[in-house]
Amino acid sequence: MSELKKLAGLACSVARSPRLGLRLLGQLPWVMRGFAYGRDYRNQDATPAAADGSRNPLREFFDRRQSGRGIWKWLHYFDIYHRHLAKFIGQETHVMEIGVYSGGSLEMWRDYFGARCQVYGVDLQAACKAYENEYTKIFVGDQADRE
Ligand SMILES: C[S@@+](CC[C@H](N)C(=O)[O-])C[C@H]1O[C@@H](n2cnc3c(N)ncnc32)[C@H](O)[C@@H]1O
Repeated sequence: MSELKKLAGLACSVARSPRLGLRLLGQLPWVMRGFAYGRDYRNQDATPAAADGSRNPLREFFDRRQSGRGIWKWLHYFDIYHRHLAKFIGQETHVMEIGVYSGGSLEMWRDYFGARCQVYGVDLQAACKAYENEYTKIFVGDQADRE
């Protein structure tokens, strides 16, 4: 699809839902900033596992995912996650992700930490309850809500 068609599609979407469209357009500078940061990010990880360019299981899980539940991550997150979280792989781990959306990252965490991992997700959308299973518990609510 040509860039022009994409732009026309975007304009139609904004015209159909002006409030949502304008809100999303307002976020565009931040999204572009995130893309630029992710594009130029260089892993400064000092741990041997990443310094020699060896595998990052989170990134591999993400790259393998061609269908099924979606995962929405900036690419430079994976090195940072792995740097701080690798020590918990295989341990009894309880991980909570705020913002579930299409549920794929919950599966990613379980795959990464292993069978002793309990996953919790929090999202505003009640539909995310659909991702519950024996190792995943979903809380419906606002992360800003202290209660
Ligand atoms: C970018 S998606 C999450 C992507 C997911 N973590 C992943 O890696 O695939 C953002 C999600 O955050 C949820 N969300 C936005 N604001 C929230 C809030 N204040 N409290 C809880 N969830 C929120 C949205 O409903 C949406 O499902």
